[in-house]
Amino acid sequence: MRIVVLGSSAGGSFPQWNCNCNNCKRLRLGTIKAFSRTQSSIAIELESKKWILINASPDIHHQMMSCKINSHAEVVRENPFEGIILCDSQLDHTVGLLLLREDKKLNIYATENVLNDLNSEFPILKVLSHYCDIEQNIIQLENNKGFQVKNVSDIQFRAFSIKSNAPPYSKRRNNPDPGDNIALLISDLKTGKSLFYAPGLEVVTKELLEIMQNVDCILVDGTVWDDDELIRRGIGTAKARSMGHLPLSGDMGMLSYLEQLSKPRKILVHINNTNPILDEESNENAELVKLRIEVGFDGMEILL
Ligand code: MLT
Ligand code: MN
Ligand code: ZN
Repeated sequence: MRIVVLGSSAGGSFPQWNCNCNNCKRLRLGTIKAFSRTQSSIAIELESKKWILINASPDIHHQMMSCKINSHAEVVRENPFEGIILCDSQLDHTVGLLLLREDKKLNIYATENVLNDLNSEFPILKVLSHYCDIEQNIIQLENNKGFQVKNVSDIQFRAFSIKSNAPPYSKRRNNPDPGDNIALLISDLKTGKSLFYAPGLEVVTKELLEIMQNVDCILVDGTVWDDDELIRRGIGTAKARSMGHLPLSGDMGMLSYLEQLSKPRKILVHINNTNPILDEESNENAELVKLRIEVGFDGMEILL
């Protein structure tokens, strides 16, 4: 299985259009050792040269060009995606759907809650249905046996309900339901290898930690270093946990869990532009190198 990180940034990208934080400012000036990054999304390339898209970011067109998605197309108009799986209904993971409206049909997989959001409070699927056919496949969370994307027999998905947050536009903001956010366990049935993907994760339960220990690679929420990062940088009033993201540092931070895992390759994704790990010469980045935790970047390829 070949996985490509299409976008490794959190919502807003890096640099963010209106942001003058220590990272964004220095990236524009060329005085930081760091790469720019687009918004959160990964894709899996299939043997058929088609793809499964996981989260549709507002940067999807640019990401498809730079990751050469659709370079094997054989007919005059071809949708390269056999399926599009959504982990939540946040804007950074769904706005890209609008940019895919030119095809005849989009085959979408998401939980009932996410599909409901996208048909009501943020009715993007309703709007899209005037442009193309939308097949809405519900990801079941009860008796979770896993699911497959149509026409793709060798990749198995399992979705786990996780604690993060519902989008700011949702009635369930700050009081999310199971199904508002999922993590995915993605298994290649041919090679037996597996990947755990959770770009938005606030609570690492014992069950999740066990799943993470048994996979070959994890791509996990690396949004911020400190819980009060946005406050200290004068950007906002919200703590990371209140937005549904576990900070990397601190006693019960993401790193304290990742340190316990011996088997998987560990990669951070959904990195906010304020996070000091983006600066490759920062102490925080050096700490990750010591822990053998990688900072995901756009175009990063993982072969499993
Ligand atoms: C988040 O991950 O908390 C959201 O994507 C934020 C946003 O949409 O800007
Ligand atoms: Mn996000
Ligand atoms: Zn910034």
